[in-house]
Amino acid sequence: MISSKMISAINEQINKELYSAYLYLSMQAWFADQNLDGMANWMNAQSKEEDFHAMKLFDYLIERGARVKLKAIADPTLDFENPLKAFQMALEHERYISKSINELMDLAIKEKDHATKSFLQWFIDEQVEEEASVDRIVNMLKMIGDHGHGLMMIDRELAQRSYSPEDEE
Ligand code: FEO
Repeated sequence: MISSKMISAINEQINKELYSAYLYLSMQAWFADQNLDGMANWMNAQSKEEDFHAMKLFDYLIERGARVKLKAIADPTLDFENPLKAFQMALEHERYISKSINELMDLAIKEKDHATKSFLQWFIDEQVEEEASVDRIVNMLKMIGDHGHGLMMIDRELAQRSYSPEDEE
C-alpha cells in the first residue's frame, strides 16, 4: 500500500520532470536562435529524456492504483546569456532534481515502502549520469573560453546525441 504522502510527493516529482523538459526545450529554442544547432539538438534529446522520466513516474502511480494529479508547469527561463551560462544552469537544475529524488527515497525508506524504494533506485542511478554528462560539457565550455573554433567543435559533438526511450532499458 502506497501512502497518500508518497503519492503526493511523486505527483510533485512528475511536475518537476515536466518542468525540466520545458526548461530544456526553452534552452533548445535559445541555442537554435544562436545558430548553435548541435547544442539545440542536445537540449532536444535532454527534453525528451525528461518527458520519459515524468512518464515513468506517471506509469508507476497508475500501476500502484494511485491517482496522477497534473499541475501547472511554471514558465521556463527564456534567455541564457551564453552557452556556458546555459549549461551551468542545466547542471544546477540537475543537482536540484537529484536532491528531490533523494528526498523521495528518504520518504520511501521512512515509510518502509520497499516497492517505491526499488522503483526509485533507477532514478538515483540516472541522476549520477545526468549530472556527469552536463558537468562534462560545462568543463569543456570553461576550457575553450571565448574561442569560436572550440565552440564550433563542441557544437559538432553535441549534434551527435540522439534519444530513444529504448536507450534507458
Ligand atoms: Fe529527470 Fe534530468 O532529471
